Amino acid sequence: MSEDKPKPVFRRVEDCETQEWNHPHRGQVKWWELINGDLTSTTGITVGIAEVPVGASPPKRGHTHDAEEVYYFLNGIGRVHVDGVETDVKPGTSVWIPAHAEHFCHNTGTEPLATVPRPTLTSTVYEPTSTGIVRSLLFQIINFIFACTGRFMCLLRWLISNIPSPYGEVDSRQWVLCRVYCGGVNPVDAKFLYGDKLPHFCLPLVKWFVEDRICGIDFSGIVIEAPPNCGYTAGDPVFGTIPPFCGSFAEYVRAPTDFINHKPNNISFAEACALPLVGLTVLQAFEDNNLMAGQHVLVLGASGGTGYCAVQLT
Ligand SMILES: NC(=O)c1ccc[n+]([C@@H]2O[C@H](COP(=O)([O-])OP(=O)(O)OC[C@H]3O[C@@H](n4cnc5c(N)ncnc54)[C@H](OP(=O)(O)O)[C@@H]3O)[C@@H](O)[C@H]2O)c1
Repeated sequence: MSEDKPKPVFRRVEDCETQEWNHPHRGQVKWWELINGDLTSTTGITVGIAEVPVGASPPKRGHTHDAEEVYYFLNGIGRVHVDGVETDVKPGTSVWIPAHAEHFCHNTGTEPLATVPRPTLTSTVYEPTSTGIVRSLLFQIINFIFACTGRFMCLLRWLISNIPSPYGEVDSRQWVLCRVYCGGVNPVDAKFLYGDKLPHFCLPLVKWFVEDRICGIDFSGIVIEAPPNCGYTAGDPVFGTIPPFCGSFAEYVRAPTDFINHKPNNISFAEACALPLVGLTVLQAFEDNNLMAGQHVLVLGASGGTGYCAVQLT
């Protein structure tokens, strides 16, 4: 028998860590991940138990994703909403939810509503709901500006000093799909949420814009899918950043290959995810101020993220 042949995996729910969310589009839910790509040699399936607690208010609207899903109800009674249609469910009911259908579960009973959802891997990359078309358009415009800025910076740097651009060739950017192990929190994540530095009258607009978006820029994790010859293959531990407004506080992210690097073996995933943005900020500050070896600098806030990097680089 071949050594590479996948082995069966047995897991009990008691051995799984309880995860809990209270998300505006997924509602309040507890989750025990039984089978996923880290435990089995297949990365194509995730199986877990979801539980909607008694009295949990239904979300204002559901969530969508690009894979179909099957729910099998184990306990409790409730209602499943799929694209605006409500259906009562009880133990023994199974529901097939088509790809891209907006859906959520609502507990209407007096005991927890437990279900076994069986999404495929791609289902965990959450997409904006269908009602967020204008928001998506704005998002595309920002992405476009981001790409143009990169291109403009390429040109500007080339014109000014012929320095090779740190942005690389925007058009030839390749992307990898990564499973996130850890996400690094930066002040910009909070600023993103409450629209820091914008006039007060902009705050409702900011709130409306970020409602469907996930925060987070820094992450570490493993590569799940990568284009051929991009320098990364499935299973590689990596760390880095993702473009603004794409959200690294997620189970999976897509990252451009020039935004990530291989994680050194001597640092943990938690340590690696704390490095990218603060490290880049300090390097940029040093470069922009033409700091040279031997010069003295005063580092304010040296116990903080950027500060501790600056101290180590001086
Ligand atoms: N993180 C990034 O990637 C990044 C990027 C660009 C710009 N920035 C900016 O850089 C600054 C620091 O960011 P950070 O990520 O390093 O934040 P941080 O991890 O929260 O560190 C903040 C530092 O400031 C100190 N501090 C807070 N209040 C202070 C006060 N009233 N007087 C003196 N020191 C005070 C803290 O000291 P204690 O530990 O004693 O509280 C800590 O050392 C922020 O303004 C941020 O917007 C950060």
